[in-house]
Amino acid sequence: MGNNLFLTKSLTDLMQEAKDNKSGLKKTLTKLNLTTLGIGAIIGAGIFVLTGQAAAQYAGPAIVISFIISGIACAFAGLCYAEFASMIPISGSAYTYSYATLGEFLAWIIGWDLILEYLFAASTVSVGWSGYVVSFLHDFGIHIPTVFTAATGSVLVELPKVGWQQLTSNLSASLVEQGVNVAALPHVTAIINLPAMFIIAALTSLLIIGIRESANFNNIMVIVKVSVIILFIAIGIAFVHAGNWHPFIPKNTGVWGHFGWSGILRGAGVIFFAYIGFDAVSTAAQEAKNPQRDMPIGILGSLSISTVLYILVAIVLTGIVSYTTLNVSDPVAVGVNAMGEGMFWLRPIVKIAAIAGLSSVILVMLMGQPRIFYSMSKDGLLPPVFSKVHRKYKTPYVSTILTGLVAIVLAGVLPISILGELVSIGTLLAFAIVCASIIVLRKTRPDLERPFRTPFVPLIPILGALICFIQMAALPLDTWLRLFIWMAIGFVIYFTYGIRHSKQRILNKSAKQGL
Ligand code: ALA
Repeated sequence: MGNNLFLTKSLTDLMQEAKDNKSGLKKTLTKLNLTTLGIGAIIGAGIFVLTGQAAAQYAGPAIVISFIISGIACAFAGLCYAEFASMIPISGSAYTYSYATLGEFLAWIIGWDLILEYLFAASTVSVGWSGYVVSFLHDFGIHIPTVFTAATGSVLVELPKVGWQQLTSNLSASLVEQGVNVAALPHVTAIINLPAMFIIAALTSLLIIGIRESANFNNIMVIVKVSVIILFIAIGIAFVHAGNWHPFIPKNTGVWGHFGWSGILRGAGVIFFAYIGFDAVSTAAQEAKNPQRDMPIGILGSLSISTVLYILVAIVLTGIVSYTTLNVSDPVAVGVNAMGEGMFWLRPIVKIAAIAGLSSVILVMLMGQPRIFYSMSKDGLLPPVFSKVHRKYKTPYVSTILTGLVAIVLAGVLPISILGELVSIGTLLAFAIVCASIIVLRKTRPDLERPFRTPFVPLIPILGALICFIQMAALPLDTWLRLFIWMAIGFVIYFTYGIRHSKQRILNKSAKQGL
């Protein structure tokens, strides 16, 4: 049938493509670079912003267990990614894997879905970046007008001692609980988030100049954030009061998700965001020196290092202060404050680490997206302009610029909560499809050389996909609705453009006519 939606791309062709290296992209990344790329993409807003909120609202000190649960789920998906990345070292990530296994239509769906992960994550994290930079500059007496520091239309209130904060429904409720007259507080309505837009523009420019330069910048950011996190853990241990861990699992309040075991699960869903990014390593496959050996190292290495750091930070942070005080946008800074005046020197350092961490996440996300567009365009599903490589810099500059422009607009006008949930649902869907694809490919092509094999197939991929679906099910209905709308737009583009220009389809057609 001419319109076979399950048309797959031949794996032999894919491997040949990888071997021929006609992509024009520069092969410079080592296994260390790939691991730091992974850590660069993973450690960011999740640990520096969300941990405290999840502990304070849902899990208490047992947020440590939430980190372990979410980490295990990501490890299952990570093992599946590692098998694919070693087998098909092409830059499109999950998109390419599903093209080879589940067919063009599903590949399109996943490619379109990955935009929610990479492009939207870059915007989400840039909003967190903006918050930390504004507060850092404020400490040094530099004030950016509040109306230029948040999403269009969002309301900010000035709290005594704390400064300007976005008025979310949570904050409003907790202020009312404390007897504060919210309407009487000074407040403004934001026009646009300029710092968030600035960081995306700056990093997009860096990505155009070169993958090597970007990887070097990422390495520096990773060194800064990891060293400060280790410093925080090492110093923080001395300030732990074991009493803060009691009760370790606060009693459920009677509402699902508010402490107790349901709170731990809800907490796991929230801090899943902290793990997003390890798969970004797989988008750089064509720029890796030895992708078949090094991709699994980069993916699993970065995931393991980040998991260990997350668990330690969660243990120490909830030991230094009571979890009830952590419902703020800079929980690690609250931990440092609690160490006493002698430790105030650590405050700006923690903020610098957060800024470095968030910068590297934005960078790697903005790097991953154009490489997925690149692969989709090479396959004919997107216009050829998306795979244009810069003659001098050897980077996919047109798709990098387009990604940057859209991310700038989203970062300037949308609030972090809407963006963040879309990122989570999009990523979970991608992980679930990758897990399912591993099982399909083991059945359809058992003969293929697999430099890395996911252990315990089909158990691990089944569990991986199942946990992803459970986490998706826990997300609000609005987020599902947005996912459906996003996918509907994708279908329109596929059926009006992709299906007509698919190179695989054209190839198949001419092969048939030749017969
Ligand atoms: N894992 C990334 C972060 O936490 C997206 O910022």
